[in-house]
Amino acid sequence: MTARVAVLASGGGTNLQALLDAGTGEAPFRITRVISNRSDAGALDRARRAGLAAVVLRNPGDAAELTAALGDSDLAVLAGYLKLVPAAVVARFRWRMINIHPALLPGFGGDGMYGSRVHAAVLASGATVTGASVHYVDEAFDRGPVIAQWPVPVRPGDTPDALAARVLAVEHRLLPAVAAELARRGFPPGVRLHLSGAAFASGDSPSLDLR
Ligand code: GRF
Repeated sequence: MTARVAVLASGGGTNLQALLDAGTGEAPFRITRVISNRSDAGALDRARRAGLAAVVLRNPGDAAELTAALGDSDLAVLAGYLKLVPAAVVARFRWRMINIHPALLPGFGGDGMYGSRVHAAVLASGATVTGASVHYVDEAFDRGPVIAQWPVPVRPGDTPDALAARVLAVEHRLLPAVAAELARRGFPPGVRLHLSGAAFASGDSPSLDLR
């Protein structure tokens, strides 16, 4: 069975695009709906270009509205979605709602930690490694159990923008790979996946192997 995936996005939607590009052919999932809290989100244009229904929420805090928008989705993916998901929707999608975050959680996450603030905080901390995390969504921002992480080096002289670009390239590979693996497994509770192969991603790193 091909899993139906809804993507929630507030911004430009490059992670949505990575999912759209991956969810074709033999892939175990398809993006079937795109949901945003902003009518001007670039993600909505990507959805329309892909011929998908794009829904703009009137009130992202309204559990009934969001539940209706998610419809019969098997998996909900938060990809740059900046609103808190109402608890009733979290409960309904337990183990079937995931988020991508551009740092190694539990560090550098939580309310207000999004966009370049995350990367600025990583640089200010002096950390030499950052990365991307995909985790289950619970009732708090960036708090649910981690499913998979991909470390990325912090380089001397990095700016928040440079770091964001390096992490984003990894996000575009990690998120579709996690969605595919969860779909293949049929969304059992509490999946934890580990990257095999090279620890650090580079532009031409070998194909992603999650176990
Ligand atoms: C990504 O860095 C994601 O991790 C974060 O928001 C950003 C969204 O980028 N949650 P995009 O809209 O997918 O381009």
